[in-house]
Amino acid sequence: MVQILDDPFFASMESSIGPVDEAEMLPPSCYTDPAFFEFEKDAIFAKEWLCVGRQEWVEKPGDYFTSMHMGEPIVVVKGRDGIIRSMSSVCQHRAMLVAEGHGNTRSFLCPYHHWAYSLDGQLIGAPAMERACGFDKSKIKLPNFKVEIWLGFIFVNFDLDAAPLAPRLTKVTEVLENYDLANADTSMELEELTFPWNWKVMFENNNDGYHANRLHAGPLHDIAPSELCVFPQDLPEDTAGYYRYNGTIHADASFNPTLKALLPVFPKLTDEDRNRLLFANVPPSLSLIIRADLVAFIILHANSHDTITAKRGWLAAPGAKAQPLFRERLKVNLDASAEIAAQDVHVDGLIPVGLRSRYAARGRYSWQEQAQREFNAWLVKRYKVEWAVRKAPASAA
Ligand code: FES
Repeated sequence: MVQILDDPFFASMESSIGPVDEAEMLPPSCYTDPAFFEFEKDAIFAKEWLCVGRQEWVEKPGDYFTSMHMGEPIVVVKGRDGIIRSMSSVCQHRAMLVAEGHGNTRSFLCPYHHWAYSLDGQLIGAPAMERACGFDKSKIKLPNFKVEIWLGFIFVNFDLDAAPLAPRLTKVTEVLENYDLANADTSMELEELTFPWNWKVMFENNNDGYHANRLHAGPLHDIAPSELCVFPQDLPEDTAGYYRYNGTIHADASFNPTLKALLPVFPKLTDEDRNRLLFANVPPSLSLIIRADLVAFIILHANSHDTITAKRGWLAAPGAKAQPLFRERLKVNLDASAEIAAQDVHVDGLIPVGLRSRYAARGRYSWQEQAQREFNAWLVKRYKVEWAVRKAPASAA
């Protein structure tokens, strides 16, 4: 394999973070090279806040669900004290996973040899270990991770010294305030699929208004023409997320055969809110696609350089689930959204083929792709920091 991590490679990324009318996409190897994904593990996934799910998924003490980021198995659980914790689900005996799927439990019992862990990860039982010299179960614990809840979304961070997330999401939080997502109704129509492409391919697609009425051309999506996309310039320099709008051709536009909201509109929306879609992103793992009555959230789990697992769920206005015909109306929306998603999946599946080609270019951006340039800036800033760390020992020697 060609060694791609060197100074010229990182210097070449400068051309991806200039103004959108000058910028070009990142080098294709950033999407295709396994060594680069290993680099990204340190540059991004080991340091950033990673979305794992919603607080409603652990409502009662003992409720838990599992997740995985960069191949690390994670369990999220609500303790008897009401605190939501996150920890590695790797048994500290011989690496079996102590939790799978979701459920409610009093403790995590490893199915292999029955080591038992409390809900905060402490080893509390280990049968037939009395002859193991110096074995002290009080010193053994599932590694805990940091946890933060933002608007009802649970984030974890492998870096125990990581700065809090919310103070770096102030502008995005402000933009989302009228949707009251912390109290939104969660539909249980959660879809989980694994795809054979790099995580950035999908993150960029979620964030791309340029293709909206081209790939998705047709009456269902023409309610949000690409030329009505707006890229606010009011984000702080250290923002952990960003957002954009896309105007719609009428109020309360929605992707279903009526082209209008079928569910209750989020009650605090202004007229301005009701005449646009809102796209908010907290890289590297959360995308929100927001209409007047429904929010699609997509949680991306990068597994390797060329596989990703995506969880997609939906949030509606508080109380919407109690309305008559909620499920039927939701189904109409989901069926129509599935058509659009299938078009995206087709593209996401072929882009990696193109990226691996010797003829792949670093293409220029349309003004309607400002969000890709914002994503590049977010990425390259972190790549540079990690590259400087890796180079430091060599230059100090
Ligand atoms: Fe978990 Fe042995 S691997 S108890």
